[in-house]
Order: sequence, then C-alpha cells, then structure tokens
Amino acid sequence: MSRRLCLLIFTLFIINALAVDKNNFKTCEQASFCKRSRNVNYEKSPYEIVPNTLNINANYITADIVNKENGHLFVLKLEGIKGNTFHFEIDEKTPLKPRYRVVDALQKEPTYEAVKVSSSTSDITVTCGENKAVISTAPFKIDFYQKDVLSVTANSKAKMHFEHLRKKLEGEQHQQNNENEEKDNVVDNNQQIQDEPGTWEENFKGHHDTKPNGPTAVALDFTFHQSNVLFGIPEHADSFALKTTVGNGDPYRLYNLDVFEYELNSRMALYGSVPVIYGHGEKGTTGIFWQNAAETWIDIAGTSNEQNVMESIVNFVAGSRNQDAPSAHFISESGIMDVFVLLGPTPNEAFKQYTDLIGHGNLPQMFAIGYHQCRWNYNDEQDVMSVAHKFDEHDIPMDTMWLDIEYTDSKKYFTWDHQKFPHPVEMIKNLTDMGRHLTFIIDPHIKRDSGYFFHNDCTDRGYYIKTKEGKDYEGWCWPGSASYPDFFNPEIRKYYADQYLMENFHENSPETGIWNDMNEPSVFNGPEITMLKDNLHYGGWEHRDVHNLYGQMQLVGTFDGLIRRSQNQLRPFILTRAHFSGTQRYAAVWTGDNAAEWGHLEAAIPMCLSLSVAGISFCGSDVGGFFGNPEAELFSRWYQTSAFMPFFRSHAHIDTKRREPWLFPEETKLIIRDAIRKRYSFLPFWYTIFYEHERTGMPIMRPLLAQYPLDKNVFSIDTHFMLSDKLLIRPVMQKGASKVDVYFPSRNGDKQGDIWYDIDDYRKIDHVGSESVTVNAYKVPVFQRGGTIIPRKMRIRRSAILMHDDPITLVVALDAKKHAKGTLYIDDEKSYGYRQGKYLYLEFEFKDGVLSSRLIDESASYNTKTWLERVIIVGLDKVPTEATLRTSSNQSTKLEIVDASKTSFTIRKPGVSMMEPTWSITLN
Ligand code: NOJ
Repeated sequence: MSRRLCLLIFTLFIINALAVDKNNFKTCEQASFCKRSRNVNYEKSPYEIVPNTLNINANYITADIVNKENGHLFVLKLEGIKGNTFHFEIDEKTPLKPRYRVVDALQKEPTYEAVKVSSSTSDITVTCGENKAVISTAPFKIDFYQKDVLSVTANSKAKMHFEHLRKKLEGEQHQQNNENEEKDNVVDNNQQIQDEPGTWEENFKGHHDTKPNGPTAVALDFTFHQSNVLFGIPEHADSFALKTTVGNGDPYRLYNLDVFEYELNSRMALYGSVPVIYGHGEKGTTGIFWQNAAETWIDIAGTSNEQNVMESIVNFVAGSRNQDAPSAHFISESGIMDVFVLLGPTPNEAFKQYTDLIGHGNLPQMFAIGYHQCRWNYNDEQDVMSVAHKFDEHDIPMDTMWLDIEYTDSKKYFTWDHQKFPHPVEMIKNLTDMGRHLTFIIDPHIKRDSGYFFHNDCTDRGYYIKTKEGKDYEGWCWPGSASYPDFFNPEIRKYYADQYLMENFHENSPETGIWNDMNEPSVFNGPEITMLKDNLHYGGWEHRDVHNLYGQMQLVGTFDGLIRRSQNQLRPFILTRAHFSGTQRYAAVWTGDNAAEWGHLEAAIPMCLSLSVAGISFCGSDVGGFFGNPEAELFSRWYQTSAFMPFFRSHAHIDTKRREPWLFPEETKLIIRDAIRKRYSFLPFWYTIFYEHERTGMPIMRPLLAQYPLDKNVFSIDTHFMLSDKLLIRPVMQKGASKVDVYFPSRNGDKQGDIWYDIDDYRKIDHVGSESVTVNAYKVPVFQRGGTIIPRKMRIRRSAILMHDDPITLVVALDAKKHAKGTLYIDDEKSYGYRQGKYLYLEFEFKDGVLSSRLIDESASYNTKTWLERVIIVGLDKVPTEATLRTSSNQSTKLEIVDASKTSFTIRKPGVSMMEPTWSITLN
C-alpha cells in the first residue's frame, strides 16, 4: 500500500472512529469502581481508629484503622511538612500484595517537621508549627486547622471507602461465605461486592478487562470549610471554578485520554491529569493533592453551578450560605490513599506549597518563549525554509519551525523521510543561521517493523509493555501496528534517552526541541482509545495503577536524552500532550486538539489557568484552533490572546487550509504581526517571570483571585488573567466585539483597588469594578498595575535570541503613593550557567522621585551588553524639569526628558549598563 493511501486510511479511521463520540468514553456508571464508591452512603463511617495503636515519632504518628463492617485493618500515617502542609497515607495493614505508590510526582523527599501529639479516647491532636490535625477516632475523620481556623476535613461526609485486596471466591467457597453472612447476620459490603458486575472483570465496547486483583478502589471526601469555590484538577475543558456534580451528571474525571474534537463545558477526561484541588473563599485558601496515578473521578458538592455562581457567592459573603461548605470526593481505581493537605492560607501560598512538593517549572531557553510556527505538516525542506523566509519578508518575528509526524520515514521515530527531507542537518543549520530553531515530534508508539532498529531492540530486549499473558502488547496508532516502550523501567528510559544523542541520531542537533505527543498513551483500537488496564509494567504493576503517569515517564527519558545530547549545556525544550503532577519539571503543555471556534478560544484561558495553579505554567493552546479553518477575525483574536499566554504556538490539522499569517487579508496579517511584535517587546518581562517561577514556584499566569483573594467578584471570572502580579489581561474573544467589559478588582473586597494603566496609551484607571473598554481590531486590553516596573525591549527582531544584547526600556507605573517596584533577570538565555551564578537579577524601585537599581543576588554576575535605552514614567502628576543619572562610581549625567503627555513622559537614553551594580535617576 502506498504511504499516501496508508495515511488517508488512518486519517479516515481516526476521523470516523473518534470525532466527538461520547460513547467511546466511560461514564462513572460504566466504570464499576466509580459507581461503587460514588454510591457509598453511610449514615456513619464504619472506619475507626483502633484503640491503643497510636505510635508517636519525631515527625509523624501512625495508628491502625479498622473497617467495622468487616474487621479489615489499615494503617494511617500522618506527618507534618515544613511550610503549612500535612501529609497522610492510609494503606492496608497486611495487604495480600503491595499496593502501588506513585513515583516521580514529588521532586524530592519533603522536609518533615517535628510534631507534638496529645490524645484522648475520642481524638488525637497532632500539632505541627502553628497548625494542627485533629483525628476523631470513631468514626474516623481528620480536621485540619490552619492556626486555629478549621480549614479542611477528611471524611466528614463519611465517603471513605477502601476496597482491600481479596481472593476471588469461586463456587462452593462463595456460597459458604454467603451462608455464613446470613447466619451471622453480618452485612459485609466488601463481601457483597464479590457479586457485583464489574468487580472481577469488566467489559466496555468489546474490550475485556480481566481485573485479576478484583476491586481495589480507594475513595475519600474532603470538605473545604472556609471556601466558596473549588478549582484545579486539570485537565478539563470547563470553567475555572468547578461545578457541583453531585446530583448533576458525572463527576470530573482524570484519566489521560486522546479525545478528538473535545467538547467544551465538559468534565470528561482529557490528555492530562493533575489531582490537585483548591478551595478558596475570602477567609482563606486550602489545597488537597491526592497523589494517585490510577483512573480517578472527583465528585464536587456545595459549589455553584453555572446558573447560580453569583447568587451563591453573594449568600456566602453575606453569611447566609444555605448550602454546605464545598467538598470534593476523590475516587481512584487502585493505589493507596496518599494525601497532602496544603493549608495556604493565601492562594499564592497554597500554590507554592504544592510546587514545593512536586517541583517548580524550569526556566526555558529564551527561544521557547518566542512565537512557534507549526502545522501538520510542513511538507518538505523547501516548505520549511520558504515559510521561515516569508516571516522575514513580512517582518513577523518567529523563533521555531515545527515538524509533525510526516517528516519521519513511515512514522518510525528517530528517522527522516529522505524524499521530503534529503538534508535535515543542513535544513536545521539554515534555520539556526537565521536565529531560529526546529522542533520535531517523537511519539511513544513504536512501529512493529522488522526493518526498524528501535523495534528490533525493544523486541530483543523485552522493552515493550506486556499483556497480562506476558507477550509484547500490540496496539494501533499512526504507524499501524505498534508497541509501547515501558518507560517505567530505568533501563528502558536510558535506552530511549540514548536515542536522542547525536552519536545515535545523526540527523539531529543539540538545539532542536522535541514534541512528545500521543503519550496518554493513545491506542486507536484500545478501550477508550488507550491501553488495556491489565497490561503489565516494570515491577509487575498493572497499567491500571500507573496509567496517568505513563506520559510523564516518557518525558523523564526525553529530558535526560536532551540534556546529554548537549553535554549538559542546553536547557531542553519539550512539549508534551499527556501530563501529571510534576510534568513542569520536564516540559511545556498545550491544550490539545481544539477547534477553530470562538468558544475554544475562550476555553484556553480557564484551561491554562487550571494547569497553572496545578504547577504547569508553561501552557498554551493551538492558535487558530486545530480542527477547522478559522475566519480572519477569530484567527487574529487568537494571536492576540496567546501573545499574552506562556506558550505561544500556531498549529493546525493536516486537513485544514494553510494559514500562515500572510495568506489572510493584509489587514489581518498586520493585526497578527502587531500581536506577535507586542509579545516580543515584552520578552524581558516574560523571561524574568519565568525565572521567578523557577525560583519561587508561584504561577506565571494567575487567576485574578491569586492577587485579589478578597474580591468575591473575581472568583468565577474566566475571561481575565494576570501575568505574575503585574499585568491584567482581558483578551477580546467575541466575534464582532467593539467593546469588552474589563473588571478592575478590589483589594479589600470593597472599593479599594489598584491603579491600572492601559499598556498602549497609559490611560489611567483608578476605580474598582467593570468598565466597558472600546476595542478596535488591533486592541488587546492589557493593563499594567500601578506600583510595578516592567522591563521591555522595543527593537523587535526576527527572533527572540537575536534580541539578546538589545537595550532595555523600563515602564515605571506608579501607585497612589507614587511608588513602584520591579525586577529584571538576565543570563545567556540558553545554558545552565545561571545555576552556577552566571546571571544578573536586578530590582528597580521608584520612590520619592528617584528610580534606583540594585542587584538582588550580589554574588551572581553576568557579562551583558544590555543597557538602559529609556525609562517611561507613568502616573507622575507633574513632568520634572531635570533627570540626573548617578552610577556606582558616582559619575552623574543629565538626561533628556521627552514625549511628555498627561500621564507619562520618557527619560531618553540613560545608557547605563545593566551590569552596573547600582545606579539611580533622580527627578527634579
Ligand atoms: C495529535 C496532536 O494533538 C496534534 O497536535 C498532532 O498534529 C497530531 N497528533 C499528529 O501528530
């Protein structure tokens, strides 16, 4: 069969088999463990602490828990972690065999803190720093207090449900057991489930799951006492604030799946799963990280649904909440209960408590923060180079050209199709010579082809994931018949990482970025388009136990490969579709196969905000929408929105019309060019906030409630976001809009707000509340917060890396006290030198008419050619007559003041080097 025909058949197969068909995916009712746990309805929880089993250690306690219904024993371990965090685990005391514990989510062993314990027959109090956990013994529940405020309770709704491992009772044995139950008049739910359909095997759309371990679910509820809204648990194409699911459809589902043309406003699972949830209200923020990699459903109660969001917030604030505090009921198919309680109490503190556990996103190379040009597919070398040149012709900056799967020889990764790409090394070099990069795709499925070295190695060495019978598992993906390396095995990861090395893959370069796609893993002919749950991994674990981690384990290998490919010189750039807790340590994430529709543009914001608060800040959506052909207006509005989101890439399905910006009407092209150039003018700011993200773990892209936790009106806003604590973005996302409502938040929940300045004309806004802002086709409503200083570069070039030495413009936006602060981070923009102190981290402050600069880390240094080209001061009532620069060697220079307007003026060419340890500009 010709390659073209093959491609056509696969494409048709995918489109026919996978386009928005909910029937391909399970409901909770169809996932027997979800159904069982969701229906748990105890008046009083049967779980109790066993008297006299409390064991006190320096940093933790243990105690036995019994399920009174069947006498089965569990062990609770509860420990204190530095920085307002508790951790607890519940596992079986003597399981028939070990239960799975997640690997690679935590970056390192947390720092535990000493605990003090007091106990009585009714409770055990574990105090850690200012916080405490109070364990009620019968029925079992844990109340977590931040200082003295009850913040979160585990099992207050008595939904705890732990299905212990058991032997399958067959024939006579089973009958005997039932008779005993009747005789003893004991109702043992756990025995009853022996009989329930779906416990020992389950069928879904012709796929059979053998479930050799029987029922293994774990479930627990959490109540967020101080909260009004819950958010987190990406990835879903839904609002940022989670909706009530109890009595209102299915729970939110976390199960990494390849869902084509996914629906909006949906709780269906998508490509990634990050089981962290936050509760927020005016009184504080609390988080729960449910560390489990198996299929998980989360039932939400007590939050608002679409219709009554505002009403319930108003009730809550007025103290007349007529509903319970919000709660989340986590239900996982296997593993143990492994929970981190993040006690905030502010949103940013809770976000940081989470990323301190699972790691901060890495500072990317500068090129990765620029604009990326992708489609499925750039056809050949000429196509790639001509698109790259056209960007120059049209004066549009662009950093990276991307190649999708068609560059390979018959979808065999680590090979090239030499018909279309006869000189890949030269092509990469040509791009590099232009100051640009190449990123190409490497998927995890391996073509079963006896002429393919990778397949032969994996077969010979037993590197593939196995079926329950111990054979290499075969599925169907882009190459046709394929198998999947078991990335959980360190030896296989090493082999896989080695394939990226120059000595193994010559047609490669240390600079190329890598795109790991389809790594949920996607299996076209598998149950729910993924892998059989009874497949087996390294260590004998079932795929069921580790599913949501599979993609991340591929990233561990890719990251290692890329680090070694450049001999530890370059920071890897990887894009992944599947993700889990900790993915930010390896890769950026995009929101997958969206569509060229206005609704999908809007969805990009809550989707990336949810990822962001879950530690994954480097997020973006396919600009223009993956499926379909965007109309010009939608296309340019998408560029404008994404220019202010961390990952900025245009991408399109193979069946769509070509959509490079110059193929649209001239005006559209100019709007797109303007948006991309605006992105580039903010690169020093972006790079600084990416660095601060690595340094602090706080999100780059933030929901408004992170900065304005007391303003109830922002709790449910999905159309606005902030970059760091400095810019407020409210993109235009409606067709034909000539005005958009921008909400300027309140700091105290009342009328006290910040001053804002429109970044385009420095118009001042100093009121709280909504304002209807007039927009033309070029306008992106973006506002700089008064009190901040933002570094920019105004000489826009072909690519980000070519702007490395260019001079800086500082935009000083003053608050009501005529004060402002900001930072600038500078390094070589690509290597790990900064981790050895080769960088500059500057703080600027404007106070009492003086702008000054100092080094935050005095021991760090970097030889930069960058200098200060201009300072724009915004919000000073009077234009000064004089500006004088003083450097650290006490030299003083008079500076020129130009472009004075009602709200701003510019200090021209201070010329001071950014290496100067201290300097100041005094205004008189
Ligand atoms: C699915 C990805 O989501 C999409 O972005 C990509 O173009 C196709 N796979 C083909 O590789």
